[in-house]
Amino acid sequence: MDRYAVFGNPIGHSKSPLIHRLFAAQTGQQLTYEALLAPLDDFSGFARTFFQTGKGANVTVPFKEQAYQLADSLSARARRAGAVNTLSKQADGSLLGDNTDGAGLVRDLTLNAGFSLAGKRILLLGAGGAVRGVLALFLAEQPAALVIANRTVEKAEALAQQFADLGPLFASGFDWLDEPVDLIVNGTSASLAGELPPISASLIQPGHTLCYDMMYGKEPTTFCRWASEHGAARALDGLGMLVEQAAEAFFLWRGVRPATAPVLAELRRLLA
Ligand code: ATR
Repeated sequence: MDRYAVFGNPIGHSKSPLIHRLFAAQTGQQLTYEALLAPLDDFSGFARTFFQTGKGANVTVPFKEQAYQLADSLSARARRAGAVNTLSKQADGSLLGDNTDGAGLVRDLTLNAGFSLAGKRILLLGAGGAVRGVLALFLAEQPAALVIANRTVEKAEALAQQFADLGPLFASGFDWLDEPVDLIVNGTSASLAGELPPISASLIQPGHTLCYDMMYGKEPTTFCRWASEHGAARALDGLGMLVEQAAEAFFLWRGVRPATAPVLAELRRLLA
């Protein structure tokens, strides 16, 4: 049977094995998928050993940049992201690195939430790997304007420069912004600590603005609670993005696109 895995450290709580096993069952694909704890001091050795027999792997924290270095060739979107979350062994034995995170978020927003990004005013909070990974895909949807706001403004400015050729992209500090936008995406890791980026509630137009947290949890995240309290039309967490990025990887490996809705429903049920 074809062998797949997700590499991370830590990896114990990964939902990827469950997601990919559900995809495989649904599509009748014969494969195994396991969660593997990769050593912090030898990611590339570990990955190379796996690929002596393995067909493909997802890569999560903290190895996405190392996977980018390891790959023999890169998709355009992985090159832009500077990070790889999906490795595929090619017929000649080489490793292709791709990044399905941005496509996963865009699919969750456009297909699942029915929110078109074209012509919209969009605010992205954060300037780390999570935001970098989705910028090119967001700009490809042709928003009216995309603002990256970050606590450390210099990091937002650097990202805005690197992606400036792809569309109308601006950098900002959190407290410079007060005009309502159509979409706010939280790509900071603040939710992990139960914290909130210090942005003005006036960015939310009640009943109109969609708020999206790339994080998810059993309970609504701090950001989603804040959004709901201030009248956001919807406050969505990142579980849909997780399932969609996995579906993109599955499609890349197997050439079959699984239906994501039943898998997302099952994950929600298990989380609760
Ligand atoms: P990731 O790869 O998940 O994006 P990262 O590269 O460490 O992780 O980036 C974390 C992001 O969350 C950064 O934009 C960080 O802001 P700084 O660049 O100023 O450090 C942001 N962040 C983390 N904790 C935060 C908090 N409590 N409030 C606001 N922003 C926070």
